[in-house]
Amino acid sequence: MIITVLMDNHTEIDVYHLGEPAVSYWLEADGKSFLFDAAYSDAFLKNAAAMDIDLTTADAILISHGHNDHTGGLAPLLELPFPHKPKLVAHPDALLPKKSQGMDVGSPLTMEELSQKTDLCLTKHPLWLTERLVFLGEIPPLCSHEPKYAIGTTLREGQPEADYLADDTALAYVSGDGFYLITGCSHAGICNMIAYAKEVTGLQKAKGLLGGFHLFALDDRARKTIDFIENEHIPLLYPCHCTSFAVRAALHQKCPLGEVGVGMKLDWE
Ligand SMILES: [Fe+2]
Ligand SMILES: [Fe+2]
Repeated sequence: MIITVLMDNHTEIDVYHLGEPAVSYWLEADGKSFLFDAAYSDAFLKNAAAMDIDLTTADAILISHGHNDHTGGLAPLLELPFPHKPKLVAHPDALLPKKSQGMDVGSPLTMEELSQKTDLCLTKHPLWLTERLVFLGEIPPLCSHEPKYAIGTTLREGQPEADYLADDTALAYVSGDGFYLITGCSHAGICNMIAYAKEVTGLQKAKGLLGGFHLFALDDRARKTIDFIENEHIPLLYPCHCTSFAVRAALHQKCPLGEVGVGMKLDWE
């Protein structure tokens, strides 16, 4: 699988790309291509164009969760001349309204608008996109140090409720006796995601991680997560987006990390 970073908080040096605190990756796997997350704005479209990536050839658009740093670019994306309605894969809660600290932080396009512009595929269950690439769906809390937590509120059938981000998910890509994992923000917990990817793929070895870990302070959760990752002996680690420098530095002392920036390509066989 070739992964190209179309959007991240950082950009690679010596090439001009736009950055913003958001996520978008272009994935090429098993003869298919996928867009994973749609960043905040139309900047990732400019980056893709500069990299000669035609987003209208995507076999599907995959959404890690509903926050607008992952869905904000859907409106400009869907203005592109797709040959037919693109398939959009997400958890059913990903497109519900979301509010935090008085601001709308969910998808700017509503479920209704997206159902007109895309072929919506909403699932809580694992969905295999190719023989090797799986959209994991809802992540169960398998690790005791990573309980669910709420960020703001969501609206379900018009009723506000605490948003525990049941929609937050990741992709796993099977490789030999293990798998690679690609996350958006890991609100569901990076360790829960690793543990669930093992269940879904039936394979026990995590070979690489790319994406946000949603860890900022070096607190108990972060330290236990670092210990967990160290014990997994994962050779290729690319925490980015919502992983603070403090957490990356602490993790790097135990397991060497790679840097992530817009324009980076990974070739994960
Ligand atoms: Fe998020
Ligand atoms: Fe995010």
